Amino acid sequence: MIFSRKAQEMAPSLTLVIDAKAKKMKQEGIDVIGFGAGEPDFNTPDNIQNAAIDAIRKGLTRYTPASGIIELKNAIVTKFKEDNNLTYSPSQIIISTGAKQSLNNIFQAILNPGDEVIVQVPYWVSYPELIKLADGVPVFAPTKEENSFKYTIEELNKIVTDKTKAILLNSPNNPTGTVYTEKELREIAEFAKIHDLIIISDEIYEKLIYGDEKHISIASLSQDAYERTIVVNGVSKSYAMTGWRIGYAAGSESVIKLMTNIQSHTTSNPNSIAQYASVEALKGEQQTIELMSKEFKTRRDFMVERINSINNLTCGKPAGAFYVMVNISKVLDKTVNGNKIGDSIKFAELLLEKEKVAVVPGAAFGTDNYIRLSYATSMENIKNGLDRIEKFINTL
Ligand SMILES: Cc1ncc(COP(=O)(O)O)c(C=O)c1O
Repeated sequence: MIFSRKAQEMAPSLTLVIDAKAKKMKQEGIDVIGFGAGEPDFNTPDNIQNAAIDAIRKGLTRYTPASGIIELKNAIVTKFKEDNNLTYSPSQIIISTGAKQSLNNIFQAILNPGDEVIVQVPYWVSYPELIKLADGVPVFAPTKEENSFKYTIEELNKIVTDKTKAILLNSPNNPTGTVYTEKELREIAEFAKIHDLIIISDEIYEKLIYGDEKHISIASLSQDAYERTIVVNGVSKSYAMTGWRIGYAAGSESVIKLMTNIQSHTTSNPNSIAQYASVEALKGEQQTIELMSKEFKTRRDFMVERINSINNLTCGKPAGAFYVMVNISKVLDKTVNGNKIGDSIKFAELLLEKEKVAVVPGAAFGTDNYIRLSYATSMENIKNGLDRIEKFINTL
């Protein structure tokens, strides 16, 4: 049987694979500590849960318009105005089954075969695969840890071609936690203007910033940036709603229309109950975000200090999201049972096998000198897990 070449070339999401492996070991009674989580370890707030139950009881359980219900679009329009100083009309908004589906819709809507999209390394695992699925070509821009893993115009100028259609921006960033400054965003907007690129701005971690840095949407910087940007956001991370699957995108009416046509044939509409719950998420009390952020900040500070106290491991202090990129380059030449570790996948496998700690290898993000640790897990897990990692490192 000959299956699709495109599908067979697609790599599975390595982050989900590791998470599943750790969960399976746990089910088997093995005491595994997982640092792989890409989701808050908090429950969805009560007011949001109740809104969903109300929606069910009221019978709001039928198909909705393909691009989502007007109540949620209106709440999103207000959110963009208040949080980002961005003015959209409801016809410029599409609600999807997670930000991931919005991103998929975008690539399907904007790319023709061979069109290039600039993606920074390290990147969120799904970007390259979604671009390839839409017959596009991901073009990788290397970044440096010393520069907080940010795009530089110098690197961008080296890789831009006449086939470049779009540039992806993700701030706050997964996996690095980096938050771009206004000045840096202005430079990227100018670069996009010069080369006439679409900017895809994934702002899903917007609410999770712990220091003095501020989230700024690149679309808000000028009329030109507004017109060439498609903003992606969602409720998954900010409201601990990963399982509800609601994300959204905003852009020109013409691109949103194409995305809606694609979505109407692939999944019809996002889940009706989750859409009503999301109205409450955006319009109801916002206290949970503060509580969650406070806890994440405490964990981040502990984790960064503890990692840097371990021999041969280093990390910077991420400004947002809930991940730390740990530099393991000093231990890749070391051996276990006479075999050189060599790369981040082997490192992660050995750590899971020897000390029962699950981490995501940097290879998942296109960079082998790192592992990613998520601090969306309890302080107790963080403490125990880092003790185990230290033990593992000291045996090398
Ligand atoms: C950078 C980034 N964008 C988008 C998503 C997708 O979020 P969702 O589909 O849950 O809305 C994630 C989830 O891990 C992410 O890390």
